[in-house]
Amino acid sequence: MNRIFSGIQPTGNLHLGNYLGAIRNWVKLQKDFDCIFCIVDLHAITVPQDPAALRQATREVTAAYIASGIDTDRCIIFNQSTVAQHAELAWVFGCITPLGWLNRMTQFKEKAGKQRDNAGLGLYGYPVLMAADILLYKGTHVPVGEDQKQHLELARDIAGAFNRQFSVEYFPLPEPQIFGTATRVMSLRDGTKKMSKSDASEFSRINLTDDAAAIADKIRRAKTDPNNLPEDVKGLEGRPEAENLLGIYAALTDKTLEAVVQEFAGAQFSTFKGALADVAAAVLGPIGSEMKRLMADPAHVDAVLRKGADKAGAIAARHLREVYDIVGFLRP
Ligand code: TRP
Repeated sequence: MNRIFSGIQPTGNLHLGNYLGAIRNWVKLQKDFDCIFCIVDLHAITVPQDPAALRQATREVTAAYIASGIDTDRCIIFNQSTVAQHAELAWVFGCITPLGWLNRMTQFKEKAGKQRDNAGLGLYGYPVLMAADILLYKGTHVPVGEDQKQHLELARDIAGAFNRQFSVEYFPLPEPQIFGTATRVMSLRDGTKKMSKSDASEFSRINLTDDAAAIADKIRRAKTDPNNLPEDVKGLEGRPEAENLLGIYAALTDKTLEAVVQEFAGAQFSTFKGALADVAAAVLGPIGSEMKRLMADPAHVDAVLRKGADKAGAIAARHLREVYDIVGFLRP
């Protein structure tokens, strides 16, 4: 059986990059896979979070999943901290993961910065917890972006290390689920940087709850270069902003980049930006308003999470018991 596991951190400002790069593809996967979509709050606290904002962001990510079309009957949606076995399996994995493997993780180096001694143990162990997330459900396929590939490879290594150490074939080796259609959405202020929740500039990203006017304003102000749009895809070389905006248009309209470049060949940015604002508002408008409706009904959102926690918890409890038996913990 194939099972998808993926997650997003509840750290605010869900944006177009989260939608086109992740959530939209998850919606397509739910037909063919058994899917578990998590709101990874345990991961969020690897850096300081305001408690009220964390709770709010947890509901917001849940609302975004539902508003984007994830079916809460077919899929499991839950927040990580409600299933205690994530932390428990992470401990077991932490005991079989060599420090050398963690020392290679580039995201830790980036996030810890120069003051590495001040970084928390949780930030360091972040990829071990991520491996536990996936393997707790024996996930086989993990849709992740480029930036999480190294963590996923570590999850495979940990699964292999566990199986070898205990001479079992217990955990599957999870595979990255790569999409032809997943779009790496870049900042509207700098076409070489990923669109990010944490960018200081609101004009760098289109939030899923932005209304049509805000979307149009941000696209109008998006960085460009002095030339008109190119005649062919080759002409995008060295023009990251043009490539990003055309790529967003292609993703939003389900067209190929080639087709979109053809459509706007030689056009001025201003003309193209008007068209882009229209399609962005058409796609995001209904999602944003559904998110707002759900956010106004937190009892409903919480009920969805509770149902998800029950379903996830049942699988997690069964698997962790098996793991504890393999490890040799006495069940008196
Ligand atoms: N680390 C992922 C990110 O920041 C989030 C995440 C946590 C995740 N656990 C996961 C993604 C398990 C996929 C599978 O994007």
